[in-house]
Amino acid sequence: MVALQEALRGVRAGRALDVGTRLGEFAFRLAEAMPAGSEVTGIDNDPAAAEKAREKFQERGLRFEVMDGGDLAFADGTFEVVALSNTLHHMENYEQVLSEMLRVLKPGGYFILNEMYRDNQDAAQQVHAAQHTLEAKLDCLLGGYQRQTWKREEIVEIFRRLPLEDVRFTDFFEEAAYDAKLEAKNRKLADEVEKIAGAPEYEALKQEALEIQARCRENGIRRCTQLLCAGRKKV
Ligand SMILES: C[S@@+](CC[C@H](N)C(=O)[O-])C[C@H]1O[C@@H](n2cnc3c(N)ncnc32)[C@H](O)[C@@H]1O
Repeated sequence: MVALQEALRGVRAGRALDVGTRLGEFAFRLAEAMPAGSEVTGIDNDPAAAEKAREKFQERGLRFEVMDGGDLAFADGTFEVVALSNTLHHMENYEQVLSEMLRVLKPGGYFILNEMYRDNQDAAQQVHAAQHTLEAKLDCLLGGYQRQTWKREEIVEIFRRLPLEDVRFTDFFEEAAYDAKLEAKNRKLADEVEKIAGAPEYEALKQEALEIQARCRENGIRRCTQLLCAGRKKV
């Protein structure tokens, strides 16, 4: 991933941490961007996610642990890099998670925040944003937590509040291969809506799912542009 390699230019070999790693895909990208001799650990508070990530990437030398991002079991200044990718909007206590990530980062180390945003997107990308908004509503109704993704400037503001220097922002697009999965997600979302049958929100969300399918047929669907934020912890 070129944007990540650029953001980590000059990083020292050492340990890197990916918080909210799910299947470990961003952790693997981190491993590719780190110098030889580095070690990448992914953590997730969902044991099933950590297990799947192990199955996928453990043989490639990555480690995965079950852990809450708001209470990291690492000493201060352990990591050369800490990263959070498309997970900020899944965290009710994101300020606490960002503060923990800063604590375990070495002075001079790199802080990476990667997050999709919902404004300034073309018609096909707006279908992805709408899909994501419905997914977030369903997640909350089904006992999880996920908020609507932020606007670009809101992410910039959150990142600028961190005590970092050499701060840089890069907008980037995911590889096209990812987009096929998004179309299949429409069917998954329709099934998810059925799980709330009988709830007051059911009819409105069913309609929302149908409208997303219609917009997808008309415009296609393409992953939203993401914002890769990078900065170094002040020494
Ligand atoms: C959208 S997925 C992450 C995607 C992944 N980082 C990527 O870029 O491919 C969000 C993940 O965050 C995890 N998560 C949510 N809150 C968390 C917390 N407080 N601590 C650790 N993981 C958390 C969820 O279990 C889920 O696997």
